Amino acid sequence: MAFDVEHIRSQFPILASEVYGRPLVYLDSGATAQKPLCVIEREAELYRTLNANIHRGVHHLSDRMTALYEAARSTVASYIGAQQREVVFTSGATASINLVARSWGGANLTAGDVVLASTMEHHSNIVPWQIVAQQRGATLRQIPILDNGAIDMEQYAHLLATEPVKIVAITQASNTLGTRPDLKTMITMAHSVGALVLVDGCQGIVHERVDVKALDCDFYAFSGHKLYAPTGIGVLYGKGEILDAMPPFMGGGDMVDKVSFERTTYAPVPLKFEAGTANFIGAVTLAEATAFLASLPESEVLAHEQNLLRYATEQLLGIEGLTIYGTTVDKAPIVSFNVAGCDHYDIGMILDKMGVAVRTGHHCAQPTMERFGVNGMCRASFGLYNTTAEIDALVNGVIRAVKMLR
Ligand code: ALA
Repeated sequence: MAFDVEHIRSQFPILASEVYGRPLVYLDSGATAQKPLCVIEREAELYRTLNANIHRGVHHLSDRMTALYEAARSTVASYIGAQQREVVFTSGATASINLVARSWGGANLTAGDVVLASTMEHHSNIVPWQIVAQQRGATLRQIPILDNGAIDMEQYAHLLATEPVKIVAITQASNTLGTRPDLKTMITMAHSVGALVLVDGCQGIVHERVDVKALDCDFYAFSGHKLYAPTGIGVLYGKGEILDAMPPFMGGGDMVDKVSFERTTYAPVPLKFEAGTANFIGAVTLAEATAFLASLPESEVLAHEQNLLRYATEQLLGIEGLTIYGTTVDKAPIVSFNVAGCDHYDIGMILDKMGVAVRTGHHCAQPTMERFGVNGMCRASFGLYNTTAEIDALVNGVIRAVKMLR
């Protein structure tokens, strides 16, 4: 099927809505993406016809729901090139990263060890490492970034060569700068010194397909809600043998084999990491979202999003005093900016009154703000349903906001 943005938009009902009497221009997909009808309807259908807890009942509904849950795992595993047992369902990328930090980090980090994370990580890929590093006497160090938002590869090589690095936590695409690090090279470099790599795929998988085996990352985390699926579902991929060796993170039902007050044995992965009632409806609807994306012509979607990025960058740079943060080539379709003499929050508020939804503030990436010497930015982040007409609305809105604020 050829990519037709108007046809795509017709499948996202919220995009037809109005805000303050103006058509909604939704440019905040980096925070959460809107949902297509197939996902919305699948969720409603599951609650209407099939809702029952998984792995627990002998009854018909439970059996069918369990089969759908495990089929969803298989669909998601194929989508990222993983084996089924290597896909752990979590509540989102934050939970996935915390799982690795607490379980793998708790068991493997010792005093003096170093964890590396780039300056441009969002808080979810910084704070969990900070917590476990403090607990284990390890140190969290930054991989610096250059003025254009690229990873400083020289410094990265230097850190790997001179510090006892045990794990590297790196984003596939910065939620603020859009930078896409050269993951393949970074992973090869980390492995050459015996360090593992966790890739935060939140903003990456949304704009490019990933093959975790080709990438050879040790862990890969992402959230469903940014990938056109519901909130509260996410994935942790881990190499099977690494997940096998990790201790459980949370204890509870479904992650056990045999429980007594003296001793508990655990279920094999991935269930070992899925304590409690899983978000089974979320998992099935996440699989629905990946099937929706897989049905689209990937290269055309990519070209469409890159065209939006190019157009937005050109048009915004025409505004006097406007600075864009993150100027690497091949970045993800995310544009963060400030305008001299105007507060990012005020611009966002005025845009909102014109129906244009952008994110303002620190974008859960305060070290990135510090790196660029600002306390916040406006961010427009694009989804596959956005149009150049919406970018015109953004640009006209910013021009108007600047006139009002200066
Ligand atoms: N990490 C999300 C964002 O970038 C919430 O907006």
